[in-house]
Amino acid sequence: MESLTALKSHWCGSLNKDNINTQIKLSGWVSAVRDLGGIIFIEIRDRSGFFQVVADPSINKEVHQVFSKLRSEDVISIEGIVTKRPEETYNANLPTGEVECYPTSVEVLSKSEVIPFLLDDSTEVSEDVRMKYRYLDIRRESVKNNLILRHNITKAIREYLNEKAFMEVETPILIKTTPEGARDYLVPSRVHPNKFYALPQSPQIFKQLLMVGGIERYYQIARCFRDEDLRSDRQPEFTQVDIEMSFVEQDDVMNMAEELIQRAFQAAGVEISLPLKRIAYQDAMNKYGSDKPDTRFGLELFDVSELMKNSGFTAFADIVKNGGTVRALNVQGIADYSRKEMEDLRTLALSYGAKGLAWITYANDGSLKSAITKFLTEDEINQITKMANAQAGDVVFFVADKKKTALDVLGRMRLYFGEKLNLIDQNQHDLLWVYDFPMFEYSEEDKRYSAVHHPFTSPKKEDIDKLIDDKGNCSAYAYDMVYNGNEIGGGSIRIHTSELQQKVFEALGLSQEEIEEKFGFMINAFKYGTPPHGGIAFGLDRVVALLAKVDSIREVIAFPKNSQAKCLMTDAPAQASEDQLLELKLRMIPVKK
Ligand code: AMO
Ligand code: AMP
Repeated sequence: MESLTALKSHWCGSLNKDNINTQIKLSGWVSAVRDLGGIIFIEIRDRSGFFQVVADPSINKEVHQVFSKLRSEDVISIEGIVTKRPEETYNANLPTGEVECYPTSVEVLSKSEVIPFLLDDSTEVSEDVRMKYRYLDIRRESVKNNLILRHNITKAIREYLNEKAFMEVETPILIKTTPEGARDYLVPSRVHPNKFYALPQSPQIFKQLLMVGGIERYYQIARCFRDEDLRSDRQPEFTQVDIEMSFVEQDDVMNMAEELIQRAFQAAGVEISLPLKRIAYQDAMNKYGSDKPDTRFGLELFDVSELMKNSGFTAFADIVKNGGTVRALNVQGIADYSRKEMEDLRTLALSYGAKGLAWITYANDGSLKSAITKFLTEDEINQITKMANAQAGDVVFFVADKKKTALDVLGRMRLYFGEKLNLIDQNQHDLLWVYDFPMFEYSEEDKRYSAVHHPFTSPKKEDIDKLIDDKGNCSAYAYDMVYNGNEIGGGSIRIHTSELQQKVFEALGLSQEEIEEKFGFMINAFKYGTPPHGGIAFGLDRVVALLAKVDSIREVIAFPKNSQAKCLMTDAPAQASEDQLLELKLRMIPVKK
């Protein structure tokens, strides 16, 4: 008999009618014990599923004796012959539900203490407890299935990339720094006191240097580290499907990435058709107030700045005259909201960063209700009604502010209404590209420009002369893939000449010394024959979490950190010993709790 291992001939979940009369040896966990007055039924569980084994004292006393002492989560091994269950006891919920086994022998491989929580998915368990005992949590069907889905998706991704002649190359974890915009995790060097390695925020620099090295097509399922504020879709360490290609233009990378994602989705049983929709960054912002628009529903924003510029409503007119904008959103069917509900919406808008929220209510009786119509002419109101295509029952909202704020606030209100009014078709798989991202973004706080993607991204050919004095209008060959309103991947065509790379660093305000110190090796590398290249990285955890339809990427990571970046199982991060600190020449600064 072919056997899986010495202790196991078959996977528990693999047995069915075809195995009747087969001699088997199964090993796994006791998942349920039912003692029906003498006859004991046990479900034995392994990764593949469940199988029923039965002990009848009139058939085998020893086996029954052992079974009578078994508890949930004991690990056992049984031997016997697969038999057909009596038809009236078929279990249609189990793939193995038509067969069972009366073991001829049973061995207890290890006993389990009483487990701290029930492992069935219907039991609510706090996340802290789950994370503390994550090894038990992983035994739960839902968590195990998420990890299986992750494996299947990763496998499909590897298969696709291997077929297309991409080569898997490992890049270092102890590095200098990668400018992806988050904080670095630092690792002190013992050999070089007072010096630190950084953990990679992404393999960006190395994958580009692999292109200089002539690898042409690279990929890596790469661990990345970013010390940033955590959210449900962010972990301090996460996994990218990281890809780089030489001799490409933007379309080459995008077409490849679409096919890759098609395959990854197939592995999760989701068919998508190509090519994907493409939305230019400015259009995405203007219509949806977001660079990762959820286009499963309409509710598009519109621009009333021109109309308001010369209106009698000076609060709006002044903002437009000072370079700001007035954007609007028509929400259908909410004209009967109470005063309180409307005030709550204003509070919501303020919490999103708006200075105010104005609206015109198109009441069901045909009248208009608004605090601002008294400042507007009839013609202005008519034009708004037309632009909004407003009907009785609608409310048109306005936010006047700097363009970025106005779009962001209304974009978030759009999502709020999308959820609240059930406008989102949950069965849709809305995949699209946002492309033509700006090269730079201005930070009011830091009073300077930074790279929207990263500083290795190529400005568009026609925008190169904007690098110095029109940074705000310089676009890049940069693209993000968006799935149901979530950014799942992003990439760009890179700069491949040292001259242009130098110019971009200068545009970012880096001094010659800083450029030399931080990126001298990169500028240097580009001097020795560099192919035009570009790439992309997908957030694997996000892709899997979305396809698994779970709320947090923690659900698809075997051992995640919690929202305070802690591992509750091992209690990391932990203090270092005095000896370690001494060896590293580090001294602690006491912090008040
Ligand atoms: P970017 O920073 O956009 O690009 O990252 C690529 C993708 O990685 C995922 N991601 C994360 N997932 C979980 N937790 C995080 N903290 C986190 N941060 C990012 C997102 C994102 O789309 N080097 C470039 C790629 C390139 O240009 O080729 C990069 O890292 O899904
Ligand atoms: P005021 O005349 O300033 O009281 O404003 C009249 C209405 O316009 C109020 O409902 C305010 O909330 C709203 N409002 C004021 N400033 C803005 C703004 N920047 N954007 C949107 N609405 C605003």
